[in-house]
Parts: sequence; structure tokens; C-alpha cells
Amino acid sequence: MKISKKTPSASEKSTWDTLKQLQPFLRPYRLRVLVAATALLVAAAATLTIPAVFRLLIDRGFSTADNLQGIGSADINRVFLTLFGVAIVLALATATRFYCVSWLGDRITADLRKRVFSKVLRQDPVFFETLRTGEVQSRLSSDTTLIQSLIGSSISLGLRNALLFAGALIMMIWSSPTLASIIVALLIVVVLPILIIGRRVRKLSRDSQDKLADTGALANETLNAMQTVQSYVREDMESQRYDLAADHAFESALKRNRNRSYLTALAITLVFGSIVFVLWLGAQAVSDQRMSAGLLTQFMLYAALVAGSTGVLAEVFGDVQRAAGATERLVELMQDSATITSGQQKLKTSSEAGASLQLMDVSFNYPSRPDTPALQNISFDLQPGTTVALVGPSGAGKTTVLQLLSRFYDPQSGCILLNNSAIDTLTLSALRNTVGLVSQESIVFSDNVTNNIRYGKLDASFEQVQAAAKDAQALEFIDRLPEGFDTYLGEKGVRLSGGQRQRLSIARALLKNPPLLLLDEATSALDAQSEAKVQKALDRAMSGRTTLVIAHRLATIINADKIIVMDQGRVVDSGSHQELLDNGGLYAKLAAMQFGLSN
Ligand SMILES: Nc1ncnc2c1ncn2[C@@H]1O[C@H](COP(=O)(O)OP(=O)(O)O)[C@@H](O)[C@H]1O
Ligand SMILES: [Mg+2]
Repeated sequence: MKISKKTPSASEKSTWDTLKQLQPFLRPYRLRVLVAATALLVAAAATLTIPAVFRLLIDRGFSTADNLQGIGSADINRVFLTLFGVAIVLALATATRFYCVSWLGDRITADLRKRVFSKVLRQDPVFFETLRTGEVQSRLSSDTTLIQSLIGSSISLGLRNALLFAGALIMMIWSSPTLASIIVALLIVVVLPILIIGRRVRKLSRDSQDKLADTGALANETLNAMQTVQSYVREDMESQRYDLAADHAFESALKRNRNRSYLTALAITLVFGSIVFVLWLGAQAVSDQRMSAGLLTQFMLYAALVAGSTGVLAEVFGDVQRAAGATERLVELMQDSATITSGQQKLKTSSEAGASLQLMDVSFNYPSRPDTPALQNISFDLQPGTTVALVGPSGAGKTTVLQLLSRFYDPQSGCILLNNSAIDTLTLSALRNTVGLVSQESIVFSDNVTNNIRYGKLDASFEQVQAAAKDAQALEFIDRLPEGFDTYLGEKGVRLSGGQRQRLSIARALLKNPPLLLLDEATSALDAQSEAKVQKALDRAMSGRTTLVIAHRLATIINADKIIVMDQGRVVDSGSHQELLDNGGLYAKLAAMQFGLSN
């Protein structure tokens, strides 16, 4: 999987190939694209007729007084009516194009955001180990905005000006082939440096978006750790860190803009320079009577259109390069990390008492640490309805076991069976609906109590939510909240104590009612009183299902059917509380420390 912060692909793929990846998003709206394109053509054609009308006016209209071959006042009226008619067509076509194209820009940005987000939600944990969440947020907001301005304005601006450029050029040649061919020759020389600087702008643009994302990610991380920051009085340090990131982003944007300014200045100077030079030749032709004033006016207006559109094109070219950088960053998010792929099979139904689970010779190392095994040859099994406890010092690999059971990672070797099916042959949803995980940190969403519990089973009735809360011993504190079940809990549940948060996540898992329940140190961070309450909740939760519980405090698992002792990624012992005490191994040592026994 490639989630590169640096940009190898920037040079690998051409701008065009990069942008072509947006094509699937445009496809559903073909009709609108067509309408916009038609309106664009009409508007460009209308614009291009204006100089010709002016020529008519000057050569035939204004010259009538001292020129007998001039046209009558009826003709003048006709010419002016035509001019007004052209203006109306231009207005309608431009408005239509603007509406369609802006609609497309907004629509496609929304589609892109939805698609990227839904894809990100399905990425493996490895994905989130490499990419900071703030980075994802930045790509979702600012990179999609760049694409919005590309589709919603730059492309049509570019097309319109390309058409004007081409049309005006042809008309210019038609007006005066000699003068026009000189301009064209000059323009060819002009375009080359523009292309070269344009490529640089794209690279710099990608870099500047990356820097901007860094700023966002940093703010995100710091805000998530506000209390730690304040209690260590690190506000100054954090704001300096942010200042630095913001300045980096600024400098990078500055570099990009400087190059874009070069681009614009160069383009305008070269193009206008060429035109002024040619006009000078034209003026001489008029004074030598080799050309009429009207024709020179027409030529001049077309030349101005060519020059104006070149300027716009150069600017659009910069926008396109920026959007290509943004597209690259978004496409990266939509790529599959796909190390964890869903199997095909449905799960065999669990027995009345709960699911069965078997680990056979499982070895695993985290992808980021290929040389350090996190688990080595782990084997144990859980019979339906039993409670098995995992104990061992911190870092032994207990949480890792639970992560493998939910298939956040796949082991490098060995096999895990759930109800006698290998878990990687099951559909991910079948597996994860069967396994209920109460993780070490309790997750609370910024919503009210009811919805937080209901997350476990979206169609649960309020009575079921209440019952789950009661079983999790949470009813007692929920009733004391200002608005009971309707109380808003604040971001990440900041308005609850640790023990309350834990009981809330247990209630959520109970509502889900999974045949296999995984509990990760659910009571480790609690004082004795809340521990007793959570313990009661857990005892209630364990009955009628298979449970694998990681326990820090041995008192909570004395009654487990089996206790598995882990150390440094291995199973070092297993048995009942009494058997393990009698063995006198690691468990006995841990027990001696916790219960103050000496044996
Ligand atoms: N995402 C990760 N990437 C790399 N190493 C990890 C990751 N998570 C945990 N580890 C390492 O794996 C080992 C086991 O961790 P863990 O299963 O969390 O232990 P515990 O028994 O305390 O729950 C530790 O050495 C830890 O540093
Ligand atoms: Mg752990």
C-alpha cells in the first residue's frame, strides 16, 4: 500500500492521466456536460462575431457622411439590432453555462467527498497507522475544494478561452494573413516557457497542499490532547509548533504563487508584446492605405481576444496543475489497502450457549515491526458458554489477540476458527457481528446516551436500550444525568467519568448481544467502587455467551473457567486460578503482588 507523503507519482503520471481519474465522477451527469458544452460553444461564437460587426459599423456606418458608397440609416438600425441580438444570445448562453458548470462542480465535489469518506471508513488499521486522521480531513475538505473550482469554473473558463483563442486566431488570419502569421510565429515561441513553468507549479502545488494538511493534522492532534497540553503548561510550545507548520505551509504556497506570478507575467508580456509589435506594423499599413481602418479595428479586436484568452489560459493551466495535485492526493485515499479482504461464507450459527473459538499455532507481527513478533505460536480454545481470561504483564500481546479475532490484522501463520470456520473465510460483517469488542479505551460519540448505546443495535427499542443500560449497571448514573437518556455527552464523552464511559460501552456491547464477547481490561482504570459495579455488569454480560476477557486485576477473573497466562507474545501457562497458583509460575508471582500473598 502506498500512502506516500512525498510525491513519487507526481512525475510518473501526466496531468492528463491524473485528471482522467475524475472521469467516472462526471459520467453520470453527461447530459449536463453536454448542455454546458453547447452553451459554451454558442457563447464563444457570439463573442467572435462582435469584431466583425464592429468592422461593418466603422467601414460602412460611420464613414457614410463623407462617403457616398455608405449605407443608409435603415442599415445602421439593422447593424445595431444585430449587435444587441448578439449580446442577448451571449448573455443567455453564458448564464446557462455558468449554472450547469457550477452545478457540476458542486455535485461532483460532494460525490467525491462521499466516495472518499466511505472508502476511508473501510480501510485497514495499517492505513491509519501511516496516515494521520487530520491529513484525511484536510484532503476531504481542501483538496476537494480545488477540484470543485476546477470543474465548477476553470475547465469551462479554459474551454471558452481555448475556443476564443482558436476562433479569434482564425478570424485574425482571415482579416490579414501576413500580420496574423507574424503573430502566430511569435506565439509559438511564447508557449514553450509557459509549459515548463506550469509543470513546476503542479509539483509545488502538491507540496503546498501537503504542508497545509500537516497544519491541520497538528491542530487536530493537539486539540485532542488539550488537558495534557494545559497540565504540562505546553501551550507556548504547541503554539510554536503550530506557527512553524503554518509558516511552512505559507512558504510553500508562496513558492507556488511566485511561480504562478512568473507564469502570468511572462505570458502577458510575451503575448501582448507580440501583439503590440504586429499592431505597429498594421498601423503603418493603414497609413499607407494598404488596409482599411475598419479592417485594422477588426484585426485588433481579434488580436485582443487572442491575447486575453492566452492570459486566462495560462492562469487556468496553473489551476489545472493544482487540481491535478489535489486529485492525486484524493485518489490515494480511494486506493485499496485491502490486506484484509472479506471472505464469502456465512457463519455457522452459534450454539445456545455461545460461539466456540479456537486459536491454532497463531504467530503474528505488526506490519510496522516486521522483525519483532507480537505473538508466537499461540494456541488455546474457548468452549461455548465458557469464560476464558487472558492475563500477563503489559505488552504481553493480550490486546493483539483480540485485534486478530476481529480481523483488524491477519496472522502471518496459524489459524483462527470461529464455530469451526476459519475466520478469513467468513464475510467480515458475519465475523464482526458475532464478535462484540469492548476495547481498552471506551469510545463515546458526541451524541446523547440513548444513541450511544443504540450504536450496538440500530433498530433497538428504547426499552431494549434501557435494559442494556440496566444490565451494564449504568442506569444508576444515567438517571442522575440532567436529562437522563437524552443527555448530550460532549465530544468523546468528556462529560462522563472513566467508569461511566466504560459501563456505557459495555451497555452498547450487551445491546449488540454477540455470541462471543471480547473484553479488554474493562476494569483496569477504575477505583474499587466503580470496579465492583463494572464487575457486576461484566458478570451479567458473560452469562449466556462465550467470553474472552483480558484482566489486569486477577480478583476479577478468579472464577473464570480457564486462565491463560501470556508473556512476551507467548502462552506460558494455563489452568484454573488454583492450578496456576499451585504451579508457582508467572501467575503465582502476579497473584502474590496483587493479593499480598506470600508463597
Ligand atoms: N499497532 C502496533 N504496531 C506495532 N506494534 C504494536 C502495535 N500495537 C501493539 N504493538 C506492540 O505489540 C506488543 C503487544 O501489545 P499489546 O497486545 O497491546 O499488549 P497488551 O498485552 O498490554 O495488551 C507490544 O510490544 C506493543 O508495543
Ligand atoms: Mg492491552
